[in-house]
Amino acid sequence: MTRPIRVEIDLSAIKHNYIQSRKQTNKRRALAVIKANAYGHGCTEVATALADVADGFALLNLEDAVALRDAGIERPLTLLEGPFDAAETRQMARLGIAGAIHGEHQIEWLRQLDAATPFEAWLKVNSGMNRLGFTPERTPAMARALAALPGVRLTTLMTHFATADDERGVGEQWARFSPLIAECGLAVSAANSAATFRHPETHGDTVRPGITLYGCSPFEGSTGADLGLKPAMTLSADVIAVQTLKRGDKVGYGCLFEADAPMRIGIVACGYADGYPRIAINGTPVAVDGVASRTVGRVSMDMLAVDLGPAPAAGIGSRVELWGPQVPLEHVAACAGTLNYELMCAVALRVPRHYRY
Ligand SMILES: Cc1ncc(COP(=O)(O)O)c(C=O)c1O
Repeated sequence: MTRPIRVEIDLSAIKHNYIQSRKQTNKRRALAVIKANAYGHGCTEVATALADVADGFALLNLEDAVALRDAGIERPLTLLEGPFDAAETRQMARLGIAGAIHGEHQIEWLRQLDAATPFEAWLKVNSGMNRLGFTPERTPAMARALAALPGVRLTTLMTHFATADDERGVGEQWARFSPLIAECGLAVSAANSAATFRHPETHGDTVRPGITLYGCSPFEGSTGADLGLKPAMTLSADVIAVQTLKRGDKVGYGCLFEADAPMRIGIVACGYADGYPRIAINGTPVAVDGVASRTVGRVSMDMLAVDLGPAPAAGIGSRVELWGPQVPLEHVAACAGTLNYELMCAVALRVPRHYRY
């Protein structure tokens, strides 16, 4: 018997969520963001599931893009950080993989290309996030420089928002970015999931939803279901031991939980080495055999404990959903002081993945 933990990925939910995300726009193109192993869901599996609906895919690594081509995926691919060296620049041009151009070092690599197989460049503007990109002041000159290179096909002006998900919105960044659209005369790609759902003025030609594809909300205080999305990832594990506690008994490292009345707890085969956040507090929601309950005590490397009180029939072998359709990932993330993004990306490789089509 293998250790009873698994992560189930519902690919039909991801397809539903892609369609739902693109529906927010007035028939704009939507690049499905599948970087970071499709936020932990499996890059090639997700791209294959979306191949017949997605307008294209956005990712980070050339190796992942090549793996998609090898898997027969012919949709447009864009690398969000562009090439990392001159050899990658040549390979991307040869394979027809587009990439963000955010620095002058990359323009030097592009100078070495010839016109036979031009590199599709997305010019990245730093509109205020101060991660990647050219300042708005320098952007028109960079657009001219790229347009003059024989081995480059400059198609798109792009930027990325820092606060599209909160009450500050996109106003300041959009005010810096939008005047460049007419000046550069390029297609536009700016919107992440939050802007796709909340800031239609930024939709441009191509939106870039990530988190909503996986059924989660980018907005604090809401869940994917509030946006009409279906959760794509279910992390669950079984009860492998049961303890009966007396009043005053403690649970786990640090004895952080103390029973204030007799109770039964289940020890579950999932810990922080599986990607469940160690910092999740006592009382983080779980579902035991479909019944809402909570964690008790500190999460260990390979185990955590749950209250079996609400599910008196539960025992060894009972299935505990740690997040999924019954336990929104957003609620677990809130109890761990983090984001749904981080939790879905952090599921460990040792957890077997099962795909539903
Ligand atoms: C450049 C870029 N575009 C789009 C996205 C998708 O963002 P989200 O998952 O919030 O939709 C990301 C993710 O971080 C990104 O870095």
